[in-house]
Amino acid sequence: MIKPIENGFILNTKKTTYIIGIKNDWLLHLYYGAKIQVDNLDFLYQKFDNGRGNAVIANNMMPQYVNFEISTVGLGDYREPMFAFDTCLGYTCNLKYQDFEILNKDDSLLIPQSYNENQVLKLRLLDEALKIEVILYYKIFYECDVISKYVQIKNLSTNQYIIDRAMSSQLDFDSSEFEMLTFEGAWANERHLKVKPVESGIYINDSKCGASSNNRNPLVILKRHNTNQHNGECYGSNIVYSGNHKTIIEATTDKRMRVLAGVSDYATRITLDDVYLTKEVVLTYSNEGLNGLSQNYHQFVNEHIIRGNWKYKERPIVINNWEATYFNFDEGKLLKLARCAKQVGIELFVLDDGWFGHRDNDTSSLGDYSVNRKKLPKGIKHLAEKINDLGLDFGIWVEPEMISVDSDLYKAHPDWSVAVPNRELNFSRNQLVLDLTNPNVQDYLIESLNDLLNSANIKYVKWDYNRNISDMYSKTLINQGEFFVKYMDGLYRVFENVNRKFPDVLFEGCAGGGNRFDLGILCYFQQIWTSDDTDYLERLSIQSGTSYGYPPSTISNHVSDVPNHQTLRISPLASRFNLACFGVLGYELDLCALSKRDLFEIQKQVLQYKQARRVFQYGKFYRQEEDAQKVIFLSVLDNAIAGVFQKLVHPNQQEDTLKINGLEDNVKYKVESDTQVLNAKIFGGLINMISPIKLKIGGTVHKLVCKYYKLKQTQESYIVYGDALKNAGIKLHGQFLGTGFNNNVRVIVDFGSNLYYIRKVNSK
Ligand code: DGJ
Repeated sequence: MIKPIENGFILNTKKTTYIIGIKNDWLLHLYYGAKIQVDNLDFLYQKFDNGRGNAVIANNMMPQYVNFEISTVGLGDYREPMFAFDTCLGYTCNLKYQDFEILNKDDSLLIPQSYNENQVLKLRLLDEALKIEVILYYKIFYECDVISKYVQIKNLSTNQYIIDRAMSSQLDFDSSEFEMLTFEGAWANERHLKVKPVESGIYINDSKCGASSNNRNPLVILKRHNTNQHNGECYGSNIVYSGNHKTIIEATTDKRMRVLAGVSDYATRITLDDVYLTKEVVLTYSNEGLNGLSQNYHQFVNEHIIRGNWKYKERPIVINNWEATYFNFDEGKLLKLARCAKQVGIELFVLDDGWFGHRDNDTSSLGDYSVNRKKLPKGIKHLAEKINDLGLDFGIWVEPEMISVDSDLYKAHPDWSVAVPNRELNFSRNQLVLDLTNPNVQDYLIESLNDLLNSANIKYVKWDYNRNISDMYSKTLINQGEFFVKYMDGLYRVFENVNRKFPDVLFEGCAGGGNRFDLGILCYFQQIWTSDDTDYLERLSIQSGTSYGYPPSTISNHVSDVPNHQTLRISPLASRFNLACFGVLGYELDLCALSKRDLFEIQKQVLQYKQARRVFQYGKFYRQEEDAQKVIFLSVLDNAIAGVFQKLVHPNQQEDTLKINGLEDNVKYKVESDTQVLNAKIFGGLINMISPIKLKIGGTVHKLVCKYYKLKQTQESYIVYGDALKNAGIKLHGQFLGTGFNNNVRVIVDFGSNLYYIRKVNSK
């Protein structure tokens, strides 16, 4: 896996190779891509046989044109640097290779980080004049084709240095002929895929708000122009961190490209007294298209990021009371909802915001986690017992990092909130952030969470975070330039403590929806609330975007009410369910207010999901090429399930072909569509084309017909070999287009969808 070779190192994973060269004590980046066989490095070195105008010559190279493994300021490399140190000798820094070590297990104290790596390479560099030592860490995850990198920086001198920038990973490429994929958005609008061609210039994908953010997720993908979901080369970079991150992509005029990734240097200057560790950046490469890249990341997250007793465990189906009641509930209402949930087969009840202090809206009580006796006179323990008696597990919502000015905690410790002295307080959702750089605040949170989780039979916690950091300042810091990194260190200390004490609790990360969907959170929380937006159409893009870097087992989806509370859009219950299935399913609506028919449908859905839960949560996930009209997701384990999701209907299009990857070539599969019942109402006046008597649309008879006459959607069934499903695909029955309607026509309305179950012919 890690092969030291004369003047370099070869790092191999199952399908990739990464090569580092050493020339005149400088580290060069020689190759990253498909696996190759190499036993000497001569052929990979840039030759520099002729001068190039005004290029600086340093160390017998023209740094401006060299592919380096790391870079600093000065020495004639004018691209964005990986490191920038402010020192007594200015900014120039010359790090020379000293020695290496190969370990079977990481020996650093980095938190958080991945685990169970196959091997670790440590390369030690030194700037003699400054006495700055840098150790580059490379962790190899052979099976999932992931290499992760981070850096330890040590001040061996008695001088005080400042780190202005310390990224974790640099990748220099010969070519900038790439497209850049980023996952951007806002609240209720997270992780929409954006594709931009890389042209000469500098691009930044970052966050500056203290969280990894819903504006720009830390995942960045670079793909060749012709790479699609199934074929072609692509590279991914992500970071195990939940705070401000930054990826810089610089394309030079001579079509070179440098990609730097790490913690953001925004408003950040670190005092380098002793040792500083950067965060872990996780790289992968695939020449099997974007699905190949995503599958590498999915395997990596399930195997090397998610830990504890919930690793590979099937997640329960929850009912969450938020959109069912918002702040307006009492014990009776909650138990009624829990009873309905039990009836349909749901497994866990989540009590969301509003159960503590005097919180009847979002203006008060954050920080005071003692129960609101007006709503729940007998307390949380009693409620949990009642819920347990119904046969459901109990879970609870908290927002520990926040404080309301209208709270006992604020009265006792006004200086515990993040605010700049003598400046106005700036609010978001009427709240302030607690100063987690302060160890007393960390201790307070550890203790109060401990008390809460010990106070009742709590099996699940939803950890929310509803505002970003704006006016960063802490009285506990000497150097305010360390605020952002110290906040995250404090937060991780709290996470570590809580996780260690409650290993059986399932944690769901949440940040006003998906404002912190990242690998740092996933080191502690096994799943994340994807978005506050549960609208079918929006979710198609949000879930698709999220799936590029994160596996379905971490993507929490709820079926909610219509009109949807974020968009007022109406979509079929079946579609809301079909889409929510590709991840961790839950419900978030007033089940008790639904018709018997809808409740019955939900009961069937829950059963259906339970039977296929492992495939949905842990199957190999594929996105098919998307078009303006349809999105297709696929989850493959032993058997498989495809979801065909329609956006808007456009009549008279080419028939749909359903291709299914990832199956065994020589095995026969039965492909069957789900059974959906259509309400005759959708046909409007067209019903009179088949009705023996003329119906008045909207009249009593029409209403009765719609109520009792159920039209079964065409059910499709095929038996096909795995290789045929992958390469040829199934031509599905035609979709309704006005003319020629008959029993074989698939009627799929706007926002309609179908699931196709693919089972081995002899399996049950
Ligand atoms: C934001 C979350 O994303 C919602 O699901 C809900 O928990 C609210 N906060 C509660 O305040």
